[in-house]
Amino acid sequence: MLSTHSIFAKTPLFLAPMDDITDVAFRTICKELGADVTISEFVASDALIRDVEKTKRKLKSSPIENFFGIQLFGNNKHSLCEAAKIIETYHPDFIDVNWGCPAKKIAGKGSGSGMLQNIPLLIDITKDIVKTVNTPVSVKTRIGYDTADYSIVDLCERLQDIGIQAITLHGRTKKQMFKGNADWTLIGQVKANPRIHIPIIGNGDITSAEKALEMKLKHNVDGIMIGRAAIGNPWIFKACKSLLHHEESFTEPSPTDRIDVCIKHFLLSIEHKGNVSGLLEMRKHYKAYLKGLAHIKSERIKLLTLNNVNEVLEMLNRIKSYYA
Ligand SMILES: Cc1cc2nc3c(=O)[nH]c(=O)nc-3n(C[C@H](O)[C@H](O)[C@H](O)COP(=O)(O)O)c2cc1C
Repeated sequence: MLSTHSIFAKTPLFLAPMDDITDVAFRTICKELGADVTISEFVASDALIRDVEKTKRKLKSSPIENFFGIQLFGNNKHSLCEAAKIIETYHPDFIDVNWGCPAKKIAGKGSGSGMLQNIPLLIDITKDIVKTVNTPVSVKTRIGYDTADYSIVDLCERLQDIGIQAITLHGRTKKQMFKGNADWTLIGQVKANPRIHIPIIGNGDITSAEKALEMKLKHNVDGIMIGRAAIGNPWIFKACKSLLHHEESFTEPSPTDRIDVCIKHFLLSIEHKGNVSGLLEMRKHYKAYLKGLAHIKSERIKLLTLNNVNEVLEMLNRIKSYYA
């Protein structure tokens, strides 16, 4: 049972699954800096049962990920159940079903938050996934498709009743995409429902340790999930731990700390994806790691043009030398 797992003894910090961002390299960095739970990028059930190599690579984790979930998306019961069976052979701690992605290419086909328009089917498919595997199954979703179209409190009860062991709620509707502010009020209502006994993880717009503490105190969630704010700032997990759990005091990373972690992330990316993909993938992260560092705009732009591992390392070390 996830609810009785020791990970929930203290409000755990989840790194949000983010397609094309939360690969093994980035998850390892976040884990080292305090994330308690990591989740794979979402994995397409259809591609997994077709044995697509690129999809299968997403199932791999690092030994440091000692509480790890694999996230699955799709719109077809048979393929989701078959894919869940494949995922189970990788022994994740839990399988997370994505009923929250609002992207047109996903939701438009009835996967992700597209399924929020057909709650009976969502329940039917989720129930069968739970029955198919022995691994705990969780759900990540949004507070609604559009405003007030159904009760998220009822939906969460129904998910719990069919055996879902934890629910992550992003405080936006499908229609909102990523606009506006995340509203945690409904997340708090789900948590306050006396019938709910599974962990409820709150997600959306946690940008600092102070915000994490505020949402924890206001809405009493069992876990906090952080996504975008961890990009270029994986230290946010340490900062949260310091404030929420009074673990070791937190000091902001210096510019050289930032560049050292960026270099480590780069090397992990190369190790896991090879020189070409590893180098290209890292281009999404430089801007965020180097944010706020003065007088390096030309170097930062140059970094995006380099195609050679040693040249990238030289450039990062050169930037670091400005701050040493
Ligand atoms: C680039 C990107 C990719 C994402 N990919 C996924 C995904 O694969 N699965 C998922 O459940 N959510 C995905 N999300 C949503 C996040 O997990 C999270 O719910 C959302 O970003 C809100 O949290 P935040 O405000 O802390 O970023 C993605 C978000 C972003 C920005």
